[in-house]
Amino acid sequence: MDYSKWKSVDDYLSGMLVPDDPFLTETLQTNALAGLPAYDVSPLQGRLLYLLAKAIEAKSILEIGTLGGYSTIWLARALSSGGRLITLERNPDYAEIARRNLDRAGFSGPVEIRLGPAAQSLAQLVSEGNGPFDLIFIDADKANNPEYLGWSLKLSHAGTVIIGDNVVRNGDVADPTTPDPCVQGVRRFIDLLATNPRLSSTVIQTVGCKGYDGFAIALVGPESLNII
Ligand code: DHB
Ligand code: MG
Repeated sequence: MDYSKWKSVDDYLSGMLVPDDPFLTETLQTNALAGLPAYDVSPLQGRLLYLLAKAIEAKSILEIGTLGGYSTIWLARALSSGGRLITLERNPDYAEIARRNLDRAGFSGPVEIRLGPAAQSLAQLVSEGNGPFDLIFIDADKANNPEYLGWSLKLSHAGTVIIGDNVVRNGDVADPTTPDPCVQGVRRFIDLLATNPRLSSTVIQTVGCKGYDGFAIALVGPESLNII
């Protein structure tokens, strides 16, 4: 796989299509300097999240897995006025870095970071009667993707767009025998996308500066399509 070519094409395309944003650039630098795992989405992928959120005029966005808040800022930029974003992060050090990045970019108002294991925060959002959200971005520990999708459906309305990051995993997703719990989690997630009558879904494979991976995109249908 010609990683260096993927990277140069990524650099070319992002140079052409992704407007300069000092806060986003600085956030990537801050996250790398702080030693966060290099799991931020790429600039072109962030732009995709932004464009999808803009296209549906998202007023409420849920992100599962904040890391340093790079994708959070992209999504927050797309909120229509008065919109809100809730992002869930288990690691307090990551959440603190994200908080500073979001403050610097001017999003301390519309963005709420909830600290704790995502499954607990999701249960709490449901019990609070929070949501439904217009867009949900699932990008946390992949082994728990099936559980996150279940909660996401409870926090959706007809028309909610659910996006899942890292669903191709260097191609390993097509291997049913893999012992990797992350790939198994993603495979179960794809099963649920395929079989839940409320969901119409696709996966786009991606190459670029993040290697070989992919995005799942699902559109939620009306509750009347629920199995139960
Ligand atoms: C991993 C997680 C991510 O969210 C990502 O974008 C890339 C890699 C990982 O856990 O390996
Ligand atoms: Mg990711």
